[in-house]
Amino acid sequence: MTSFRPTVAEIDLDAIRHNVRTLTPEGVELMAVVKADGYGHGAVEVARAALDAGAAWLGVALVEEGTALREAGVRAPVLLLSEPPLGSEKDALGADLTPTIYSERGLAAVAEAGEALGRTPSVHLKVDTGMHRVGLHPPGDAPDFARRVAEAGCELQGLWTHLARAEEDEETTRRQLAAFEEVLAGVSAVAGRPRLVHAANSAGAILYPEAHFDLVRVGIAMYGLDPGGGLAARAGVRPALAWRSAVSSVRRLDAGEGVSYGHRYRLEAARTVATVPVGYADGYRRALSSRGDVLIGGRRRRVAGTVTMDQILVDCGDDDVAVGDEVALIGRQGDEEVRADELAALCDTIGYEVVCGIGPRVPRRYVP
Ligand SMILES: Cc1ncc(COP(=O)(O)O)c(C=O)c1O
Repeated sequence: MTSFRPTVAEIDLDAIRHNVRTLTPEGVELMAVVKADGYGHGAVEVARAALDAGAAWLGVALVEEGTALREAGVRAPVLLLSEPPLGSEKDALGADLTPTIYSERGLAAVAEAGEALGRTPSVHLKVDTGMHRVGLHPPGDAPDFARRVAEAGCELQGLWTHLARAEEDEETTRRQLAAFEEVLAGVSAVAGRPRLVHAANSAGAILYPEAHFDLVRVGIAMYGLDPGGGLAARAGVRPALAWRSAVSSVRRLDAGEGVSYGHRYRLEAARTVATVPVGYADGYRRALSSRGDVLIGGRRRRVAGTVTMDQILVDCGDDDVAVGDEVALIGRQGDEEVRADELAALCDTIGYEVVCGIGPRVPRRYVP
């Protein structure tokens, strides 16, 4: 679709490649987690860049996300990070997506789909060691379950778990890893050691070498954002996404004027106020009203008053600002930078939600 509005998300694929190389531990494979349209960055383009940089696997949440990668011609191994919904198994196996399983029902459905397609499904068993979201629970059931995987005619290619607090709590993480080691020993004793054992998300990959096993499943840090605790800076990754727009209107207003809906921003002195065509319908959160900064002309400027559906107003003081001037909503201008993590903190959320929330109205442009 032609886009007339200057508001775009620009994705630096070189940053993705740099981050993948930086985050891949020696002798360990990396799974690039590209669910939720690559955390808002574009799953297909990020997947290709990550694979270029040596990623061995891709991870998605939905069967639909996996089949979309296949339709775009991506051939690399893809792991479904949750059990495929009942009824989707044939599509998943038909597209050569690798199912995660953790329920008897899920195992039976995948085995049946494999039989119907005349192939032996490779599966990864997920064990719940403390996240308590999905996964086989209690973990002590894993050896028996692994035996039944073989009996059902499936190959147990992988065994994994997910860390709940790797970025913030060592005790919980060590407890989860100890439980997982026990599961691994039990499963290996009855079914042999699965080829791919994995546990680490970004924070686990950066902080816990003992969580690396055979593969790390990296999402947020590959996009150059912080998993928490300042770990992105520690890992040396670079943000891949810049969110840019341009000034669409400028006016000089007198002292005492109120700005935007509700006039919640009152000018104490005469000010130049710029309009920028982005709003909460694009994922520029309303919580940034009078709190967020954007960059214009290399300087930080405060969002003036209420963020509206399609536009924001920006207090530019006495500076010369003109229609067409570039605006950085996220990203750099000169020495100044606004990070997704900064906007997240102002909105009492995490960088993950800020980038995933950049809406479909915002075209993604790729810098190769
Ligand atoms: C199962 C699983 N593994 C790995 C990841 C990647 O996590 P992160 O983005 O913190 O690296 C996620 C993302 O939420 C996930 O759900």
